[in-house]
Amino acid sequence: MTKEEILAAFQYRHACKEFDPNKKISKEDFEFILETARLSPSSFGLEPWHFVVVQDPELREDLKENAWGAPKKLDTASHYVLGLTMKTPLMKWDSDYIQDFMINVQHHPEEVRKGRSKFIEQFQKSDFDLSDDRKLFDWASKQSYIAMGNMMTAAAMIGIDSCPIEGFKQETTENILREKLDIDTEKFGISYMIAFGYRVVEPREKTRRPMNDVVTWK
Ligand SMILES: Cc1cc2nc3c(=O)[nH]c(=O)nc-3n(C[C@H](O)[C@H](O)[C@H](O)COP(=O)(O)O)c2cc1C
Repeated sequence: MTKEEILAAFQYRHACKEFDPNKKISKEDFEFILETARLSPSSFGLEPWHFVVVQDPELREDLKENAWGAPKKLDTASHYVLGLTMKTPLMKWDSDYIQDFMINVQHHPEEVRKGRSKFIEQFQKSDFDLSDDRKLFDWASKQSYIAMGNMMTAAAMIGIDSCPIEGFKQETTENILREKLDIDTEKFGISYMIAFGYRVVEPREKTRRPMNDVVTWK
């Protein structure tokens, strides 16, 4: 793609408030979007995310009750994603998840695993002071948001609209995750939602601060 085409996709992406309920994203296109999430970078490469694609209308109704930023999107989106992030039992430096991940996903030899464990321990204890559950969840969430950004950009590049959503109550939504989706909310929390589909109206012109306000060169 040319630079102009890439920037055109960034201009095309907007927080789409309502989707055409009759237009569905193809399986192939949605798998492409999910693949860009899966390939996203994360701190120490730990992939602290999980994505739940909610297509069941009843579940979408349940989510609506706690999601003031989402009703129209839940009604009309072709695909609706819950962005989950790992909590302390999985994200703390000495968790089984991290140890297993270094062995079975990253295929690190024993010496490398030990070295990286120490490094992650130091990072979490002092460099970034991730000393309580909230700090650790927020740190892991930052990485989940990278996947979110990549999915929305990738979608825009193939002409698919999206909307990132934080307009919901985290606690009550996690109750739904636990009760209706059988998700262990000791291990996973919800960071965001994203609706995907095709726009019904054109957005208003994009507004952004000028480059000089957002970048400093020294
Ligand atoms: C983390 C995050 C949470 C957001 N939550 C909502 C939301 O709950 N409902 C909504 O309609 N838009 C939501 N937005 C969209 C923003 O309002 C929108 O991105 C911003 O106004 C810039 O407009 P643009 O994305 O159309 O360029 C959210 C955006 C981000 C990045």
